[in-house]
Amino acid sequence: MKVAVLGAAGGIGQPLSMILKNNLPAGSKLSLYDVAPFTPGVAKDLSHIPTDVCVDGFTGDDLPKALEGADVVVIPAGVARKPGMTRDDLFKVNAGIVANLVKNCAKVCPKACICIITNPVNSTVPLAAEVLKAEGVYDKHRLFGVTVLDVLRSETFLSEELGVSTARTVVPVIGGHSGTTILPLISQVINADVISDERIAELTTRIQNAGTEVVEAKVGAGSATLSMATAGARFALKVVRGLMGEPGVTEYGYTEGDGKYTKFFAQRLRFGTEGWDKTYDIGKISAFEQKCLDELKDVLNGNIKKGVDFATEWVQANK
Ligand SMILES: NC(=O)c1ccc[n+]([C@@H]2O[C@H](COP(=O)([O-])OP(=O)(O)OC[C@H]3O[C@@H](n4cnc5c(N)ncnc54)[C@H](O)[C@@H]3O)[C@@H](O)[C@H]2O)c1
Repeated sequence: MKVAVLGAAGGIGQPLSMILKNNLPAGSKLSLYDVAPFTPGVAKDLSHIPTDVCVDGFTGDDLPKALEGADVVVIPAGVARKPGMTRDDLFKVNAGIVANLVKNCAKVCPKACICIITNPVNSTVPLAAEVLKAEGVYDKHRLFGVTVLDVLRSETFLSEELGVSTARTVVPVIGGHSGTTILPLISQVINADVISDERIAELTTRIQNAGTEVVEAKVGAGSATLSMATAGARFALKVVRGLMGEPGVTEYGYTEGDGKYTKFFAQRLRFGTEGWDKTYDIGKISAFEQKCLDELKDVLNGNIKKGVDFATEWVQANK
C-alpha cells in the first residue's frame, strides 16, 4: 500500500504521518507532501523510526511524484480555525487548496481513495467530487470526508458520563462535520437510558462544539491536531485494511451515499477492496435525535451547495 499525506508538515499532518509510519502494514510506502520546504526533513525524521514502512518527503512542484502509485491519499492541507471563526469561515482559502490537490490526484492516481480532513468537510468533499467528475474519474466509493474525530470525542465524553472504559463505548455519529450537522446517536449507546433527556441534549451540544473548545483553549494557535491525527490515522488505516481485503472493517465517514437524508452524509461505512462497499442504516433513533436530523438537513444541503457552486466556477476557471 502507498499512502500519501498532503499537508504533511502541519499540525495534523506531522503526528498523522507519525502514526501511519508506526502502524501501516510492513512493506507499505508513506509519501509526505506539503508546500512547507522542510517537508523532506519531516520524512527524514520519521525514516529513523524502525518500522518496515518506507517514507519519502516532497515539496514545491513535486506533488505528482508524491502521488505516483498512491492507493490512499489523506488531505489535511489548508488553514485551521482561530478563535471566533467557524469552519465555514475557512472555506474561501481551503476550497482552492483542496480543488487543486484533488485535481492532481485525478491526473496522477485516479483510483486512489481520497480522505479529506480539510475543513469545512461538509463543503470540501462535495467540491472534490465535482473536480473529480470534471476529470472523468469520480467514484463515490473512493471519496471520503473524515468525521471520525466526532466519534472519538463522543466515545470519550460518553465513557466519562457512564463511568465505563472507552474501549466499551460505541457512539454512532451521523450527519456532517460542523455545528448542529454533527449528530451523535446517544440513544443507541449501551446503558444510555440512565442519562436524562436534558443531559443528552447537553452532551449533544458539547460534542457539536468540542472543536471550538480546543480552538479557544489553544488561544489562537489553531484547532485540534493531535486528536485529529489520531482520528485521521484510525480512518486511513481502516481504508487500507479494506483495500487489502480484510472483511468487515467499518467506520463512520462522510460520503455520497444513497441520498436518503442529504446527498453527502456521514454514516457507518464498510470498507472493501474498491473503497466503501456498504452503508449501514442509522437504526432506531429517539424523538430528540429525529428532530435534530430534520433540522440539520437544510444546513447540510446549504454547505453541500456551497462546495458544488465553488467547484463549478473553479473548474471553468482552471480548465
Ligand atoms: N476533519 C476534522 O475533523 C478536522 C479537525 C481539525 C482540523 N481540521 C482541518 O484540517 C486542516 C489542517 O489543520 P492543521 O491544524 O494541520 O493546520 P496547519 O496550518 O498546522 O497545517 C496545514 C498544513 O497545510 C499545508 N498546506 C497549505 N496549503 C497547501 C497546499 N496547497 N498543498 C500542500 N500543503 C499545503 C501548510 O503548509 C501546513 O503545513 C484545517 O483545514 C483544519 O480546519 C479538520
